[in-house]
Amino acid sequence: MTTASEPTLPVDALGVVGDALARADETMDLASRHLDPSLVDVLHILGFDTSYRSAQGSYLHDADGRAYLDFHTGEGFASLGHNHPGVREVLHATLDAGLVDGVQLHYSPLAGMLAQELSQRLPAGLDAVFFASTGAEAVDSAMKFARAATGRPRLISCDSSFHGVTLGPLSLVGDEFFKEGFGPLLPGCARVPFGDLDRLEAELRAGDVAAFIVEPIQGREVTLPPAGYLHAAQELCRRHGTLFVADEVQTGLGRTGRWFALEHWGLEPDFVLVGKALSGGYMPVAAMVTRREIYQKAVGTLERCYVHQSTFGRNRLSMAAGLATLRILERDGLVAHAAHMNTVLTDGLAELQGRYDMIKEIRGSGLMIGIELQPRARAWPG
Ligand SMILES: Cc1ncc(COP(=O)(O)O)c(C=O)c1O
Repeated sequence: MTTASEPTLPVDALGVVGDALARADETMDLASRHLDPSLVDVLHILGFDTSYRSAQGSYLHDADGRAYLDFHTGEGFASLGHNHPGVREVLHATLDAGLVDGVQLHYSPLAGMLAQELSQRLPAGLDAVFFASTGAEAVDSAMKFARAATGRPRLISCDSSFHGVTLGPLSLVGDEFFKEGFGPLLPGCARVPFGDLDRLEAELRAGDVAAFIVEPIQGREVTLPPAGYLHAAQELCRRHGTLFVADEVQTGLGRTGRWFALEHWGLEPDFVLVGKALSGGYMPVAAMVTRREIYQKAVGTLERCYVHQSTFGRNRLSMAAGLATLRILERDGLVAHAAHMNTVLTDGLAELQGRYDMIKEIRGSGLMIGIELQPRARAWPG
């Protein structure tokens, strides 16, 4: 007999889940041997080498039943919390329905529904969607579509930005550390300081820039844009015929206290990129959303309609997870909740900052919050 505190452990005839549960103690050893031993070392050094047995909501649990509050959430991957029961139910139902999948020369209603529901939450006109499996793939799609739609070669991004690590997005990333050893990267990519409109305009004036790609709030160090910057950058792009791309892979879907961070500044980008939280914490899924006219210019002919695609892009479980995520965010008022929790958290953190001089700055929006630390001032005797 089981009680509420003793859930029935899942089993499968092939023993996959049973083996994973039984071999939990081997996790780090397996990772060292077959995945990345350096990352295992880093986890040991940081003390992040806990073998978690389960996860629920905002908490991870180890074998001794200790709970760990997860402030990281995979940078927004688990925005709904871990193992959300609502998403799980939809995934089970999707599998049980035996829907058609993976045919490729085919569309499922789920993909169209998710595209429609995403568009409805974005500024008018952003109604053409390409689904991918990762944020990097969504960024890469926007890079290609912008070039094809404008006939221009160059792409501009910002210093300290992050857009993913496959070769296309890596060419935009604003930190040389990620690039070492992987060059040569894509030609035609250049960077400007985040917040510097003069440098941006100097690049755009050449008239050969297809797109300016920017995170509304930079995720690496939770850097907020200077007042008026994003709107002015969008205007400069319009004036110079450059497409304006908001990379909301990390800031999207409620994280900053609005459905999309672009709402804080009334932006109307030509592309919005979404990922991470769309997964519901389960399925790889990302989206490039753009205007129909841009989409058609890039690939919209009978001959070229299949030149840009992705095997797993519209798979039923990813589409279902995305739909479940949007509906749960809406039903449970989680976007307003993120805005409210910002006040609760930053008030508490400000109180801590008064007590600990190692806290240099607290910044963020909604539940995308960074705490910058500094070396503690040493109190010298006498
Ligand atoms: C703003 C931004 N864009 C793109 C990506 C890449 O997403 P993925 O890791 O799913 O490829 C990330 C990942 O952290 C990101 O923060």
